[in-house]
Amino acid sequence: MELLLPILLGILAALIGGLYLLGVFRQQRPGEPPLDKGLIPWLGHVLEFRRNTLKFLERMKEKHGDVFTIQLGGFYITFLQDPLSFGAFVKESREKLDFSKFAVHLVRRVFGYVAIEGDHHILQMSSNKHLKGDGLEVMTQSMMSNLQNLMLHNIGSAADQSTWIEDGLFMYSYNILFRAGYLSLYGNVPHKSEESEEKAKEKDRAESEALFYEFRKYDQLFPNLAYGVLPPRKRMEAERLMEYFWNALSVQKMRTKDNISRWVWDMQQSKEEMGMKESMINKYMFVLLWASQGNTGPSAFWLLLFLMKHPEAMAAVKEEVDKVLKESGQEVQHGGPLINLTREMLMKTPILDSAVEETLRLTAAPLLTRAVLQDMTLKMADGRKYFIRKGDRMAMFPYIAVHIDPEIHPDPHSFKYDRFLNPDGTKKTDFYKAGKKVKYYSMPWGAGVSMCPGRFFATNELKQFAFLMLVYFEFELKNPEEKIPEIDFRRWGFGSMQPVRDVQFRYKLRY
Ligand code: HEM
Ligand SMILES: *[C@@H]1O[C@H](CO)[C@@H](O)[C@H](O)[C@H]1NC(C)=O
Ligand SMILES: *[C@@H]1O[C@H](CO)[C@@H](O)[C@H](O)[C@H]1NC(C)=O
Repeated sequence: MELLLPILLGILAALIGGLYLLGVFRQQRPGEPPLDKGLIPWLGHVLEFRRNTLKFLERMKEKHGDVFTIQLGGFYITFLQDPLSFGAFVKESREKLDFSKFAVHLVRRVFGYVAIEGDHHILQMSSNKHLKGDGLEVMTQSMMSNLQNLMLHNIGSAADQSTWIEDGLFMYSYNILFRAGYLSLYGNVPHKSEESEEKAKEKDRAESEALFYEFRKYDQLFPNLAYGVLPPRKRMEAERLMEYFWNALSVQKMRTKDNISRWVWDMQQSKEEMGMKESMINKYMFVLLWASQGNTGPSAFWLLLFLMKHPEAMAAVKEEVDKVLKESGQEVQHGGPLINLTREMLMKTPILDSAVEETLRLTAAPLLTRAVLQDMTLKMADGRKYFIRKGDRMAMFPYIAVHIDPEIHPDPHSFKYDRFLNPDGTKKTDFYKAGKKVKYYSMPWGAGVSMCPGRFFATNELKQFAFLMLVYFEFELKNPEEKIPEIDFRRWGFGSMQPVRDVQFRYKLRY
């Protein structure tokens, strides 16, 4: 008897401890946001969240308002969905809201890369130097040369003169953007190692095609890989793909290339100098490939699709592009030289800029997440205050809070190519909610410390691609009545959205 009691007490304590760890006892304290734990201990709402993040968060917002805490797989996450208060999240100090802890964890699971102190700093330094300003000039040129290699290599071959070529618009756009982006960042096969320049270019095309083929497989596994719910077979497939990319992008392989971007080069060097093993740097090369090539292709698809579905938009952009080309003193001629589309020309296209921004508003839907390192008070724009607990997480999903808010963007589900243009043709940046100016009126790139460092380059890529399509090709939907496909809801929160199905289109040379 004496023995039994301590054992029973022990079991009871373990049980209570276990329930505590499962979050069963957590209650909303005074001053905290509404708490919604969901029905399943520990897991909370994770199933519904994963099934369709957008729908779930809309439901929560309806139920609880613009700030609420939910339980998701062992974490308590407070969502901030009032756009006027976004500054409180974006600008909070790193001592309180931290991005890297969370990112480091994910990157390790999904890419096999073990981060080191200073990683993020290196990334930001290199990006500031080489993906904007003067650095962008160099990137624009190599992107142009690679795009032309991929899009126009068979120009002049008799078969392609006046015949329509049919393709899936999603696969076509993703394929071209991925490969041109990859070649521009990771370099070309040197001319001198092949018999001729033509042979070297052919090799670039073949190699990048093979890479894209594997990348798409990984891309499709990605959402479930990130959530850690891939079944074993697919998990093995993902690991095989990782190995493939670590090899294909290895430092050793890149030593044989010409034209490696300074962006990639500098990061390799810095990591080497910090004593990182080469095999680990190879893994980082895959992280960069993923971050740089997973979003632009899908965005290019939506851009072209919206233009084809909106003739007035297509006409306006086409007119602008033709005008810029003419003003540069160039002309696309049958059998003539390829055009030299410069950074300067790309800075004279406000209508195309607006169309790109509108495309991203409708189809880029990142989820921004931070770890809460200290107890803190969230101060809302309207004066409300909420206590947020250390150890929790905070998140924003701007797509609902901003992108499709009808007060900020009237008729939010329609593509309006001139939504981001003022009547005088300049860029529009004034948007309002409840009579107040909204600073974060579109957030395809995220915000704050983790804001996409490739955003200038990405915008440039999209514009270069659209520009070349417009000046070189006629293109149209195979079926003009084709409906715009739905967004694949499994990817909400992962950046640029993908469609649930492809759309057939056809193109042919204009000259
Ligand atoms: C339309 C195209 C693109 C979109 C919509 C996009 C969007 C984003 C978003 C939302 C984030 C932040 C993720 C977070 O807060 O957790 C991000 C991060 C990042 N993006 Fe992009 N991106 C695009 C293209 C690019 C390109 C072309 C590059 C590089 C050349 C690039 C490089 C990166 C990198 C390295 C990060 C990680 C930043 C960090 O860890 O601080 N992105 N991107
Ligand atoms: C390197 O890039 C330039 C354009 O920036 C291009 O003309 C040249 O052909 C490229 N080199 C190789 C080996 O492809
Ligand atoms: C294109 O124009 C830029 C800027 O004027 C120049 O630096 C570059 O050499 C040109 N490229 C080609 C291939 O003519």
